[in-house]
Amino acid sequence: MAAATRWALVTGGNRGLGLAVCKELAGRGKSVILTTRDTAAGQKAAEEVRAAAKEGAKVEVLELEAADAASRARLASAVASRFDRSVDLLVVNAGIIHKTWTPEGFAQSAAVNFGGAVDTALAVAPHLAEGAVVIFVSSTLGQLSKLSPDYAEPISSAKNLGELRAAAARFDPSSPMPAHNTYSPDYSVSKAALNRAVQLMAADGALRPAGAAAAVCPGWCRTDMGTSAADRSAEEGAASILAPWYRAAKEGAAAVNGSFTRDGEVIEW
Ligand SMILES: NC(=O)c1ccc[n+]([C@@H]2O[C@H](COP(=O)([O-])OP(=O)(O)OC[C@H]3O[C@@H](n4cnc5c(N)ncnc54)[C@H](OP(=O)(O)O)[C@@H]3O)[C@@H](O)[C@H]2O)c1
Repeated sequence: MAAATRWALVTGGNRGLGLAVCKELAGRGKSVILTTRDTAAGQKAAEEVRAAAKEGAKVEVLELEAADAASRARLASAVASRFDRSVDLLVVNAGIIHKTWTPEGFAQSAAVNFGGAVDTALAVAPHLAEGAVVIFVSSTLGQLSKLSPDYAEPISSAKNLGELRAAAARFDPSSPMPAHNTYSPDYSVSKAALNRAVQLMAADGALRPAGAAAAVCPGWCRTDMGTSAADRSAEEGAASILAPWYRAAKEGAAAVNGSFTRDGEVIEW
């Protein structure tokens, strides 16, 4: 009897790093579910993934608007009804960047990069395979050193997701943050909060039955977000994203639980 299909689920899989991750996995024979906000874009991406896939790898498309609770719930129920307990890799990749310090930009970054990422994982987690690996695509721009102390302290000291949500939602127009980090202050806050959430969820097993929550930085990559000036290809970024998955395959999920890596090397939070 053929072994049951084990799937990877990749959010924001219709372009950029998410698409590169899907192609890399399917090229190695893993079946992939990619999420998209736009069905036509998702189907077009799925064709690209199928063209890159090794024989036997299947490709499916589901919809997700990461910042919308109803959409996250629909994704979770689609996973439950069609792929229950057969997704052993979840790559929470969908993200946006604003290079601003406005209440609107801050709220959007927090809603997608932090809340959207965490709540998508929490919604889908009960339907994952035992011991699944959940990889959150973060960034070195979310390292605590990229935050001014008024943001770094409450985020890094949050003891649970409730405290963290409050810290990540607090926009202070008079914060030194935009002077401290002129490139992408609200993006950095949202990714720092995501990193802290990964630490908390890794410690308390919030994503069980998944066996690992890991944060990764893909490096600066040539995508719409990274621009053509970036020093890495999307494929190199995808390899960095998937490093914990390959390590977990050899050493078990616990080996990567709670890690923050780039190219598989541990980096500072
Ligand atoms: N590129 C880099 O240099 C770099 C470096 C460090 C970290 N990262 C991280 O890597 C991840 C992927 O980035 P990328 O470079 O591939 O960016 P990208 O080319 O801009 O692609 C972003 C992807 O996320 C999706 N997305 C955005 N907002 C969403 C939402 N609210 N709900 C659902 N999907 C949403 C997009 O869907 P649509 O097509 O519908 O917009 C798209 O599929 C992000 O988390 C980013 O922060 C990137």
